[in-house]
Amino acid sequence: MPFPENFITELVDRSDIVDVVSGYVRLSKRSGANLFGLCPFHSEKTPSFSVSPDKQIYHCFGCGKGGGVISFIMEIENLTFPEAVEFLARRAGMPVPEQTDDRESRRRERMLALNREAARWFYAQLSTPAGQSAGAYMAKRRISPATAKTFGLGCAPDGWDGLLRAMEQKGFTGKELFDAGLARRGKNGGYYDVFRNRLMFPVIDVRGNVIGFSGRILGDGEPKYMNSPETPVFNKSRNLFALNLAKKSKSGYIILSEGNIDVVSLHQAGFDSAVASLGTSLTPEQARLISRYTDQVIIAYDNDGAGVKAAQRAIGILEKLDLRVKVLRMSGAKDPDEFIQTKGPEAFRKLLEASENQVDYRLRSVTDKYDLTVDEQKVDFLKEATDLVARLPGAVERQVYAMRVASLAGIGADAVTAEVERRRKRLLSRARSDGERQQTRPERQAQPPDKDLRYADPSSAAAEEGLIRLLYLDPALGRSPELPPAEDFSSEALGHIYAAVRARIDAGSAVSTASLSEALTLQEMSLLVSILQKPELLSSGERALNDYIEKIRERKRLRAGSSDLRALAESLRERKGFKGKDV
Ligand code: GTP
Ligand code: MN
Repeated sequence: MPFPENFITELVDRSDIVDVVSGYVRLSKRSGANLFGLCPFHSEKTPSFSVSPDKQIYHCFGCGKGGGVISFIMEIENLTFPEAVEFLARRAGMPVPEQTDDRESRRRERMLALNREAARWFYAQLSTPAGQSAGAYMAKRRISPATAKTFGLGCAPDGWDGLLRAMEQKGFTGKELFDAGLARRGKNGGYYDVFRNRLMFPVIDVRGNVIGFSGRILGDGEPKYMNSPETPVFNKSRNLFALNLAKKSKSGYIILSEGNIDVVSLHQAGFDSAVASLGTSLTPEQARLISRYTDQVIIAYDNDGAGVKAAQRAIGILEKLDLRVKVLRMSGAKDPDEFIQTKGPEAFRKLLEASENQVDYRLRSVTDKYDLTVDEQKVDFLKEATDLVARLPGAVERQVYAMRVASLAGIGADAVTAEVERRRKRLLSRARSDGERQQTRPERQAQPPDKDLRYADPSSAAAEEGLIRLLYLDPALGRSPELPPAEDFSSEALGHIYAAVRARIDAGSAVSTASLSEALTLQEMSLLVSILQKPELLSSGERALNDYIEKIRERKRLRAGSSDLRALAESLRERKGFKGKDV
């Protein structure tokens, strides 16, 4: 435990969740005890984010995020547990006690040290014969040695254990490389390099730590990129490639592109504020990170269908944070790198200057889809375009764009304006009733809101949820000798939450979202809070406990049985195959 328990308890007591959340979200009171506001973690027009002053938790019925005050700060400020504790302590005017014996943070430091050494080694390979292949590839892509140095690009040579051996010499173990996502375990129990024969891009966070790697194949082939897995120091959804460099830019905006090569090429051409997400589409966390450094983003995604779709998603996410968003309109090249290589940096600068604001961009995407000289298509165009305009928040903005749509379609502005307002009313009333429906019936959702945590066995998971809820609400039930081990749970996430709750009970410690926020991931914390939202009758706690336990056992037997049956069927089929051959 890095922080003494009573310190955390006092901190949470002094950090009222309503006060803290109000610093980020406008909350208003409706019927009932809870406060509601627009969720800061996903895009929405009607409030589904609720805060309970009684339970001191927040929960979003839309995206499923939830937790206590510490999780809220971790999530919204993009901080680790100890950082969030420090943040809240400063806010509450409490001195932070010395952290002693923090094994987790020492482990992180060690992993960062390994990553740094690995990045150095990859870079050093460029000046050895083994690194010539990557050197030649960079030359082909016209990446200069100076640029390679700025980014710390390197070469993972062709071989099985070059990095492994070099790092072992520096005192790191194979297991440590494995944990950092740099090595895999072979059949014989030994380790071998993950990245082989690739151009290496270190991913460096805004504090200058090497947190992970991205490796591009040298030429064509699959997979084109390999990226580090999630590790204790690498979270893809909360970091951006090259933000460590871009944050120093004086340009006043961030250029958001898709590929690592695009980013490198942009910086080399003087556009030093380019970043890219790490192989996934832009996340709200990344958008928030960007918003710390700039208020304007220019999207420069690939010039293909996927790029257009991704741009539209990104616009929605960035817009929510009050960032001014523009979209680059590129033609004659598939991506920013190709554009710069074929047309030069000056031409790219012109593109930047001409980039459209996002409403123009979206309206043009709609316009491009239809031939407006054909009446039928004009009708479809009007439907789609008025829908787009109806979703704009400002009345003046809607008026301006309604007139634009009218002139594009060659019809009267009044007709379009009227249609826009009619659609807007309908959208608003639909959104309102959706929001209410979600809020009144959260218990109907058998699956967790987070798709990553999907339950393979919903019926067992419901009992697993129930068991967790009971133990949380009445820790005394944790003494029951009948409690199943966490391995009997069908859902790994629920098993982990259960184990964490039981560990607290066994240690005689308090069970609360605050005390659990260290042991659980934010994802698990959200799941826990959504579980706690569901009703539980404590008066019949013990009976419910036994029902849940019985259900979990029964489902486990069934799952084991069905895999036995599958195995049996398999062996029968094989035997039949033999017979078939004999005949
Ligand atoms: P080129 O222009 O083709 O040299 O590559 P690029 O760096 O521009 O990348 P591209 O536009 O093809 O892909 C965009 C991003 O998606 C990359 O930076 C990677 O993060 C990710 N990506 C691309 N291909 C793969 C893949 O095969 N596997 C994984 N995990 N990620 C990929
Ligand atoms: Mn590309």
